[in-house]
Amino acid sequence: PLEINIELPDQQEAAQRLKIGLYFATWWALNVVFNIYNKKVLNVFPYPWLTSTLSLATGSLMMLVSWATRIAEAPKTELDFWKTLLPVAVAHTIGHVAATVSMAKVAVSFTHIIKSSEPAFSVLVSRFLLGETFPLPVYLSLFPIIGGCALAAVTELNFNMIGFMGAMISNLAFVFRNIFSKKGMKGKSVSGMNYYACLSMLSLLILIPFAIAVEGPKMWAAGWNTALAQIGPNFVWWVVAQSVFYHLYNQVSYMSLDQISPLTFSVGNTMKRISVIVASIIIFHTPIQPINALGAAIAILGTFLYSQLWLDLADDFAINFVCRASSE
Ligand code: 3PG
Repeated sequence: PLEINIELPDQQEAAQRLKIGLYFATWWALNVVFNIYNKKVLNVFPYPWLTSTLSLATGSLMMLVSWATRIAEAPKTELDFWKTLLPVAVAHTIGHVAATVSMAKVAVSFTHIIKSSEPAFSVLVSRFLLGETFPLPVYLSLFPIIGGCALAAVTELNFNMIGFMGAMISNLAFVFRNIFSKKGMKGKSVSGMNYYACLSMLSLLILIPFAIAVEGPKMWAAGWNTALAQIGPNFVWWVVAQSVFYHLYNQVSYMSLDQISPLTFSVGNTMKRISVIVASIIIFHTPIQPINALGAAIAILGTFLYSQLWLDLADDFAINFVCRASSE
């Protein structure tokens, strides 16, 4: 007998929502775990250039093994693909190292408060470097983001200039990474997961010589022994955890970018930072003053306003890559 399977639109919508909910929950959870282990490692082993390299190396290895064992299908890529990937990889490398250097110097929560202003960076880059103009409300929405971050920064008890600049440079680099990566993914047959895998590999190749030049094996060996003596064999597991979770959260984030609109993604990313900020303050007993927390809350609320504004404007304003740029 002929079986007809009709799925009601309501059911489809509910299933899609559930899927997105699962993506978000997985992404945030993986990101919280990464941030905790990354900071635990950096507290006793302050070599962010090496830990950044290890994160990318672990991700690359995991993907190579997945391709070799056919857990995942290897992408068919041409030279052109890698050429377009190069600027994305340069921006990804800079953004990743800068964020890790920042977290080595300041509280994880502070790095993420500054990083919650990434959407403001995408508007400014597009306005001043690419000559894009936006409706006035978009510019107005930048005030709470920038003001809130400024308030959080000046009232931060353990303020450190390198920590602050690292997070700012990461914001700028990731705006470019997102602009280039959305362009590169468009119309390509490479899935989000494989796109991120190739990105890790190319970034790793770019990063290795710089990591050796800035820190180098001598420093690493001495630091490694000190950390091992202080923490014991568990230290190795912390390093493994930060590296594996770094790859996993990024992989899930690129996989969800395949599924959802960039704006939904942008809102999801800000909510991710709230979970990281709250979890890290609890776990690391980060001292915060009420005025400092107020600054963070204003900045994050500002980013929500910005995202909501884009959702409203999307109908009557041609969405260009700027709103996509804020998607990570
Ligand atoms: C990194 O190490 O790349 C940063 O932690 C990235 O931060 P984000 O993915 O939360 O922007």
